[in-house]
Amino acid sequence: MSAFETILYEKYDGVGYLTLNRPQALNAYNIRMRDELYQALEAIRDDDDVRVVILKGAGEKAFCAGADLTEFLTAPSPIIARQVRWERDVWGLFLGIPKPFIVALHGYVLGDGVEMCLCCDIRIASEDAQFGTPEMGLGIITAAGGSQTLPRVVGQSHALDMLLTGRWIKADEALRMKLVNKVVPRADLLPTVQKMADGIKSFDPRAVSYAKRAVTRGLDLSLERGLELEARLGIQLA
Ligand code: COA
Repeated sequence: MSAFETILYEKYDGVGYLTLNRPQALNAYNIRMRDELYQALEAIRDDDDVRVVILKGAGEKAFCAGADLTEFLTAPSPIIARQVRWERDVWGLFLGIPKPFIVALHGYVLGDGVEMCLCCDIRIASEDAQFGTPEMGLGIITAAGGSQTLPRVVGQSHALDMLLTGRWIKADEALRMKLVNKVVPRADLLPTVQKMADGIKSFDPRAVSYAKRAVTRGLDLSLERGLELEARLGIQLA
């Protein structure tokens, strides 16, 4: 569909396929990728033909090895490198899209890679996936929402364990802490996410998006307000 440099975006039969495509740099997230992701996410948000999205990383070794360290090293400081990223709120856009995202995780899933997968709704990992947040070692904190999204997914103590120690977590532990929904052999990774996407896309897209909205927005509300939200969405759907 497009001539991006750092990502690929295709759509086929109701499914959008978003691929991080810098395998030579383990799909490290750079400023160009931020800008291209932003464009692709806007297209996904606005395209009624796309009912569900699969996010994955190109190459054998990594989903994403985090922020591009070569950009960090050329900036005056890691803090300033981060400020450049805040100019465009790609993560706010990502989290606000009311369509389901399924992410296929293999190999290294580090830093921004972890945070990107947390913007998705269903996380499937292959057995070789390894997760880590090395920000502490660089004297910075997460900047792609991870300090907020990680505890919402795995709970406060697992989130602080990952964020403060920077230790790496293998797929089986990621499954135990509910960072991922399922772990499959590498050969089954893409077929598994494809099958899930095919199932979801067969449902009424409004019902799917309302269910996503009820859960994701509801998590930030009191139970009472969350129940009101569910009732309101249910009436709108009727
Ligand atoms: N930014 C930019 N380039 C990166 C990168 C990153 N975050 N991670 C890997 N690369 C590049 C390497 O420089 C290397 O490039 P080269 O072939 O031109 O030398 C290529 O990707 C392959 O990486 P390599 O280090 O050779 O692979 P490996 O299997 O030996 O090690 C890692 C893999 C992930 C352990 C290692 O690359 C690493 O520690 N990366 C940095 C992770 C990180 O701290 N990310 C920032 C989080 S905030």
